Amino acid sequence: MAKGREAFVCGSCGSVAPKWQGQCGTCGEWNTLVAVAAVGGPDRRGRGPGPAPPSTLAAESQHSPVRVATGSGEFDRVLGGGLVAGSVTLLGGDPGIGKSTLMLQAAAALASAGPVLYATGEESLQQVALRGRRLGLEESTSRLLAETCVEQIVEASRTLGARVLIVDSIQTTYTEGVESAPGSVAQLRECTALLVRHAKRTGTAVLLVGHVTKEGQIAGPRVLEHMVDTVLYFESDTGSRFRILRSVKNRFGAANEIGVFAMAEQGLREVKNPSAIFLSRDPQPAAGSVVTVLREGTRSLLIEVQALVDTGAVGNPRRVAVGIDGNRLTMLLAVAHRHGGLGFQGADVFANVVGGVRIDDTAADLAIVLAAHSSLDDRPVSHALVAFGEIGLAGEIRPVPFGEERLQEAAKHGFGTAIVAAANAPRRPPDGMRVFAVKRLVEALDAARGG
Ligand code: TYD
Ligand code: MG
Repeated sequence: MAKGREAFVCGSCGSVAPKWQGQCGTCGEWNTLVAVAAVGGPDRRGRGPGPAPPSTLAAESQHSPVRVATGSGEFDRVLGGGLVAGSVTLLGGDPGIGKSTLMLQAAAALASAGPVLYATGEESLQQVALRGRRLGLEESTSRLLAETCVEQIVEASRTLGARVLIVDSIQTTYTEGVESAPGSVAQLRECTALLVRHAKRTGTAVLLVGHVTKEGQIAGPRVLEHMVDTVLYFESDTGSRFRILRSVKNRFGAANEIGVFAMAEQGLREVKNPSAIFLSRDPQPAAGSVVTVLREGTRSLLIEVQALVDTGAVGNPRRVAVGIDGNRLTMLLAVAHRHGGLGFQGADVFANVVGGVRIDDTAADLAIVLAAHSSLDDRPVSHALVAFGEIGLAGEIRPVPFGEERLQEAAKHGFGTAIVAAANAPRRPPDGMRVFAVKRLVEALDAARGG
C-alpha cells in the first residue's frame, strides 16, 4: 500500500479517519478502525486535462437517467422505475432468502435489452445452471462467469460490453491491490470502489449482492452503503413465502419503497396487490385484534395488531412487544391509563404485529391502544373496523400523512368503519365507509366500543 494514501475506516459505522485510533470518533465503538487505501488516490491519474465547466440545474435536468426494465414490475418500482444505467445497486438479505434467484430472473429479462454478465463467486456454473433450469430460464442469453477477482470481472464486463453487471456476492470478490482476505473491510471497500468506477465510466448498471450480519446489516462496513447509489434489502418473516424488497437508500427514486414477491416452485412471483396479504382471516372476531393502515413508500398496507392483557400476572408486570418498539408500547400504555382510564397496572401486556411486519409508523399507535383495550375488556372490536392515528402524551390523537390514501385502501378491502384523527377525516368519506373523526383518546375508545 503506497505511503500517504492510507486512511482508516470504521467497520461499524463506515466513517473515515486520517489516522488510527482505538475508538471511533463517530460511533464510539472500540477497535473497529482498519487501514485501507484512500479512495480516489489512484483514480486521479486517469483524469482529463482539467475540471469540466460548472453546469446549472436547468441544463442538467434536460437529461433524465436512462432506465432499463428488469422484467419485474415490483423490482422496477423499488428501483424508482427501472434500473438506471451507470448506477450501482447493493442488494442485501439473509442467506436463502432469494437474492440469487431474483438476480438470475432479472438477468434473463435484462438480457433482451443488452448484454448482461452474471459473475458468481458463491456457486459453480453448474449450480447456477441448475437453478436457471428450475426457473425455466434455459433460453436466457445472459452470460455467466465463475470468478472472484474483481479486475477479471471488470475486464470480462468490458470485453462483453455489458450493460448490466451482477456480482454475487461482493463478499467473495477480492482485488490484487489489497492483501487482506476476501470479505474484509479493506477488500470490500476497494472492490466496491473499483466496480463503482467501472459503472460510472462505462455506464454499466452494476448490481451487487451482499450478505447481512446477524444484526441485519450488510456485512462489512456501513461505508458500502455510502459508496453505492441504491441500497435494497430483501426481507421475510421466518416460514413465510412472501418476500419484501425494500429500498433504504435510492439516489434515483424514493427511499422506503417496497416491492412484494412470493417464493414459489418456479422462483419469485410478483404480488401486485399486496395490501391485504398480512391480514389473518379469522372468521370469528377475536378480542385484542385491530387492523391499521401503514404507509410503506407509496403503498398502503393493511396490518393487524394484536394485544394480550393478562391481569392475573404475579410479580413485576411484563411488557413484551414484537414488531413494535418496546418503549413506544410502554408510553402508549401510560397514556391509555392516564388519559383513557384503562387499568393496565399489574397486568402483563403483550403486543404483536401479524405477519412478522415491523412497524415504524406512528399511525399504528391508535390500533395498539384499541387492541390492548379490547383484550382488557375481553370484547372484540368489529371486524369491519380500521384505526390509525398517532397518540400524543396529552392523550390527543394526531393526524398522520396520507390519511385519504389510507382510508381509500381500507375501503377497497371492505372495511366499513374507520377511526382516525379529526384532521385526517375527509370531507367526503369513501363510499360505504363511516369515518369517526376523533380528537382525544377517550373519544376513540368510545367510538371503538360503539363501532
Ligand atoms: P437463493 O436465491 O439461493 O437465496 P440467496 O441467494 O439469497 O441465498 O434462494 C434459495 C432458496 O429459495 C432456497 O431455499 C430454495 C428457494 N427456492 C424456491 O423455493 N423456488 C425456486 O424456484 C428457487 C430457485 C429457490
Ligand atoms: Mg445466493
